[in-house]
Amino acid sequence: MHRSHTCGELRSEHIGSEVTLSGWVQRGRDLGGMTFIDLRDRYGMTQLAFNLEVNKELCMKARSLGREFVIKVKGKVAERESKNKNMPTGDVEIIVSSLEVLNSSKTPPFTIENETDGGEEIRMKYRYLDLRRQKMRSNLELRHRLSIETRKFMDEQGFLEVETPYLIKSTPEGARDFVVPSRMNAGQFYALPQSPQTFKQLLMVSGFDKYYQIVRCFRDEDLRADRQPEFTQLDCEMAFVEQEDILNMFESLTRHLFKTVKGLELKEFPRMEYADAMRLYGSDKPDIRFGMQFVELNEVVKGQGFGVFDTAELVVGINVKGGNIFTRKQIDEFTEFVKRPQIGATGLIYCRHNEDGTFKSSVDKFFTEDKLATWGKAFDSEVNDMIFVMAGTEEKVRKQLSELRLQIAALQGLMDPEKFAPLWVVNFPLLEWDEESKRFHAMHHPFTSAKPEDLHLMANEPGKVRANAYDLVINGTELGGGSIRIHDKGQQKRMFDLLGFTEEEAKNQFGFLMDAFEFGAPPHGGIAFGFDRLSAIFGGQKDIRDFIAFPKNNSGRDMMIDSPSVIDKAQLDELNIGVLSTK
Ligand code: AMO
Repeated sequence: MHRSHTCGELRSEHIGSEVTLSGWVQRGRDLGGMTFIDLRDRYGMTQLAFNLEVNKELCMKARSLGREFVIKVKGKVAERESKNKNMPTGDVEIIVSSLEVLNSSKTPPFTIENETDGGEEIRMKYRYLDLRRQKMRSNLELRHRLSIETRKFMDEQGFLEVETPYLIKSTPEGARDFVVPSRMNAGQFYALPQSPQTFKQLLMVSGFDKYYQIVRCFRDEDLRADRQPEFTQLDCEMAFVEQEDILNMFESLTRHLFKTVKGLELKEFPRMEYADAMRLYGSDKPDIRFGMQFVELNEVVKGQGFGVFDTAELVVGINVKGGNIFTRKQIDEFTEFVKRPQIGATGLIYCRHNEDGTFKSSVDKFFTEDKLATWGKAFDSEVNDMIFVMAGTEEKVRKQLSELRLQIAALQGLMDPEKFAPLWVVNFPLLEWDEESKRFHAMHHPFTSAKPEDLHLMANEPGKVRANAYDLVINGTELGGGSIRIHDKGQQKRMFDLLGFTEEEAKNQFGFLMDAFEFGAPPHGGIAFGFDRLSAIFGGQKDIRDFIAFPKNNSGRDMMIDSPSVIDKAQLDELNIGVLSTK
């Protein structure tokens, strides 16, 4: 028997019992005649005690153990002299009577502690060691709990989990596909799914009116903290539903998860029109844990001789409560921040609302005290607030100010990771104009339906047509998105036309879906949640990599298995792509 208990299990009620434990040596301490070892496994840590006077040989053996050695011990549970209130097993220790080394270990390349000295790359290379750290372990436990509770909820609501294939034909979700060469079909390729979108729609045609799947998706796109090339979706679709049904169902699921996994009762989720999100926050995924809503100033500041404002399409600002404490240096840093190429602003204007009620701005030359007071009024500012103003083209300046808003909120500690502010953003535009290709693209995907009341705009102002599309945003992260689909072949065809697909291309790529729509497709719609993002939000963190057992780095590499890698010529030849061989 390797163990009678785990290393996280023993408490004072076990005092006196004989136990067997197995695990890894976290660390050892020699204190005069005593040697202590912390033994760790997935469940926790238990202190082992060895007394030099009682058993010299055993104690010397314990002293010779290195970090991460795998050992098995037998002994008696005893009350600790100095208890450790920070450890669940901190009231007890094991007086060891026998010790067996099951395996030795090289010295690990970084310390396996909560606060590790290991850098990002080295931890990725030795991911299996990083996963021994309690923090990483509890992240994966959290993810597991979320998937169990999700499955429970979906099952109770009558959803059926159906698996869809990974070797498919391209699905257009806006990113590049990962492709897989086919050995048996020379010169042809599968694509890995960016999402199971078309399959779940086909399942609706098949009559599976409530489908879900926790499923891997693949997208060849630039990576960020909340993006991985392979990631997991909770993907869902329902037939005979309207937008309201989907929002209610998935709000209930989210509430269920918060309640069962975090013990939190969330209030009804607010909803916001896409247009309002852009106007008030400059973002389609506003973080509403804090205010600082945008105030548009064209009426207040234009025509007063300040060229930057007079020539701008939009002058817009935010009021930072208590922001008058920002020093000149901090303001300069904000200015540098918004001028970085990634943000691209030309400058930043500030206006202090002083303690004595006066105003002081960086554009005093153009605006008298009285004029500045009208700014204060527009923002409803109070003494000791600070107003920041930016000017430029409408689209750009909103995005730039949005970045500044988030930066300031982070600095002011307004992004409490234990506070959760969900928000439905609804009525997204159906299409977005792409300057590069000079044509419209589907903002969500080409299967999304338009709002019937906006259909008259389709011919002349397609950019103004709103879609039956929605996102669930939590704390400024887009957690999920979905839409009510087109289920009519004619309408789907018109959509492909609008998106610039030739009949040939549409038939080639989506003929199967169009064909299916001729056999009684029910009205349907759905949503997909980013499951890695969900886990990270629940864990109060931004980086989804910490919630994926074996993630890729920011260049899309798996540092541990060293992939992607070159394959040999024989393998390439067999796949009929031998010309690419570099060997
Ligand atoms: P969408 O493309 O919005 O919709 O994706 C749904 C959710 O998946 C997550 N997500 C990602 N997570 C990690 N890494 C990525 N690279 C990544 N890309 C997306 C996000 C996002 O909100 N088929 C539609 C859904 C539908 O219409 O039902 C779809 O995939 O959290």
